[in-house]
Amino acid sequence: MLKSSKVVINFLVLVWLSFTAPAVGGSYLESAHGNGGFGANRQPIDARYAQYATGNCAHCHEAHASLDGLEPEPRTGAAPHTLFYPTFNTARTQNLYTETDNFCFYCHGDAGQRVINQDYSAAFGGAVAGSGPQSILAAFNQESYHNLYDIWNFAGLNTAYPWFTAKSNPCSACHNPHLARRNWDPAQPGFPLLSAVSRPIAPARLWGEAERMSAYPYEAPYAFSLNREPAGVGLPDGDNTPDYVGFCTECHNPANLIWSTPLNRNLRKVNWGTTGETPDKHGARPRQGHPYSYGTPPLLEPYREAAAVKTNFVLSCLDCHEPHGSTNIMLLRRRVNGGDLPEPVSAAAAKPLLPLCVRCHDRGHLNQLHHEPGYLAPSGECTLCHPNGGDQPEVVACRQCHYHGKNL
Ligand code: HEC
Ligand code: HEC
Ligand code: HEC
Ligand code: HEC
Ligand code: HEC
Ligand code: HEC
Ligand code: HEC
Ligand code: HEC
Repeated sequence: MLKSSKVVINFLVLVWLSFTAPAVGGSYLESAHGNGGFGANRQPIDARYAQYATGNCAHCHEAHASLDGLEPEPRTGAAPHTLFYPTFNTARTQNLYTETDNFCFYCHGDAGQRVINQDYSAAFGGAVAGSGPQSILAAFNQESYHNLYDIWNFAGLNTAYPWFTAKSNPCSACHNPHLARRNWDPAQPGFPLLSAVSRPIAPARLWGEAERMSAYPYEAPYAFSLNREPAGVGLPDGDNTPDYVGFCTECHNPANLIWSTPLNRNLRKVNWGTTGETPDKHGARPRQGHPYSYGTPPLLEPYREAAAVKTNFVLSCLDCHEPHGSTNIMLLRRRVNGGDLPEPVSAAAAKPLLPLCVRCHDRGHLNQLHHEPGYLAPSGECTLCHPNGGDQPEVVACRQCHYHGKNL
């Protein structure tokens, strides 16, 4: 392409886009990568790309094998989709990942364009910016993470996604690089109504701009102070929160069997509905209540007050989980409902899930309920939950009783 005719180039690529790749479609120029101001720019990897306008396709695709007679950096020869680097290193079946394992990490990592991205806990949950991972690569290199090899494998084998081939990038299962928009905005912190994600069943459109959590009986948790998620500018009913239930349950539903390499087993199924086996307590299953109240409503605010009006809450998956990775097990967020977890959620802890549960549930109530004689603690049978006896602080891993698929 000639450097002198950027307008013509943009026109031509749009024509190319609409005729040769109908599945791509949509508004590339409205996407984050296509943005002329802050979009994709490979200049830090190869200085000669200064001649291309920011946002030009050439920052990711190499239409020619050489630029002024030399192969552009990084020099890898031909890559699928004419990308400047192979999409994914399928030999990397577990983290830690490096830049060279995934095409996207060239800019969403520590090299190249170095795009700064906060995790969900900071971007939308009220954690201080800079307190967590600062790039997508760093987010995936934590204690728990969405394993990219398993995603690539799952999407590749799934006949519902014929577009996803062995040469596809695992990030593409959740993001369309030609459509994904900046879902955060420095001028409007946490402005969430521009979506960064697409569902793998409908990769040619964004998910979450029209689909919101307000479609459910949802109560947005606090971000900080009395301000709601996302990022303190959310509305209590979730009208500013993308429908992450619809997004995540595209894969995590009662039908799909999903292998996890990090956990070395198939995942437990997640049932956010009301029918079928063990609908989840945090999903659409009606609130059950129990015979003991101890004078304290069991939920913390904002749920306590809202519970009088909403007789059942459906939580968003991202109320508890990060989408990419976390310092906690199971992608669990480090900050939930307006406060940092008092300590990490660790499989080795004596009360592993307690730091998470007490961000929304009243601890005194929790304690009393588990010790109600004849209810959860048949008299004397303390070892049901305290393997070394009732005077010992060790509790049987909460995860023996509390997980998706167990109706507790
Ligand atoms: C941020 C990087 C990036 C930018 C910028 C970008 N693309 Fe892509 N493009 C990709 C990736 C990654 C894929 C492969 C998607 C997958 O995983 O299946 C792709 C795939 C494609 C394909 C399908 C090719 C095939 O072999 O199936 C076409 C066509 C395409 N891009 C055109 C464009 C055009 C035209 C532009 C500019 C308007 C553009 N792209 C800008 C990253 C980018
Ligand atoms: C399982 C689905 C999934 C996969 C796989 C995934 N993401 Fe995401 N990603 C999300 C969701 C959901 C969000 C929106 C919430 C957010 O912004 O944290 C997101 C947000 C983002 C953002 C914006 C973050 C911000 O808020 O500043 C970037 C950039 C991103 N992803 C890049 C990537 C890259 C690169 C990969 C592959 C290495 C990847 N994602 C893999 C689900 C996924
Ligand atoms: C050439 C560098 C480059 C490559 C390669 C690249 N990105 Fe980006 N990406 C950017 C830039 C720059 C932005 C805009 C950052 C901003 O909003 O300030 C961006 C934004 C995004 C966003 C929107 C959220 C945001 O922070 O604006 C998503 C989602 C995203 N990228 C995913 C991907 C995925 C998935 C891949 C690989 C298929 C990829 N990117 C490859 C440079 C790149
Ligand atoms: C494209 C399909 C897909 C989508 C969409 C998806 N996941 Fe996953 N998820 C997987 C696969 C495959 C695994 C197994 C790999 C692994 O354990 O990391 C997994 C694993 C997980 C795990 C276990 C992680 C671990 O190993 O500790 C959690 C938690 C999870 N996903 C939550 C979510 C949430 C929350 C969302 C929505 C933001 C989501 N997933 C969206 C495919 C998906
Ligand atoms: C109230 C908090 C909370 C919400 C909301 C939530 N999760 Fe979880 N999730 C957890 C906890 C805690 C675990 C770890 C339990 C365990 O050790 O198995 C977990 C584990 C998982 C796992 C791993 C399951 C396994 O095999 O062990 C997946 C997958 C997952 N969640 C997906 C989702 C999806 C999808 C949604 C939304 C539909 C969701 N979660 C909503 C708290 C939550
Ligand atoms: C983000 C806030 C949040 C977190 C974190 C959370 N919960 Fe909940 N939980 C709720 C809400 C809200 C309800 C009420 C749901 C409804 O109305 O159906 C609930 C309901 C329940 C119920 C069913 C109560 C009933 O009467 O039906 C149980 C059991 C429960 N949670 C256990 C846990 C456990 C165990 C943890 C920690 C692993 C946990 N929760 C973490 C918000 C949370
Ligand atoms: C159904 C499960 C369950 C049973 C049965 C049970 N406990 Fe507990 N116990 C818990 C949980 C959960 C906690 C943690 C509560 C907390 O830290 O707020 C706890 C905490 C305690 C503590 C406080 C430990 C500390 O670290 O502060 C004591 C003491 C205790 N239990 C004694 C008993 C005795 C005595 C019995 C038998 C009569 C018993 N428990 C039976 C679940 C149970
Ligand atoms: C032996 C099984 C068992 C173990 C172990 C256990 N729980 Fe529970 N827990 C239950 C049951 C059953 C309920 C449901 C009570 C109800 O809704 O009537 C419950 C309820 C809860 C609730 C909702 C409390 C409320 O006030 O409504 C929370 C939160 C909770 N457990 C957290 C924990 C934590 C944290 C641990 C580990 C430190 C733990 N549990 C260990 C069986 C267990």
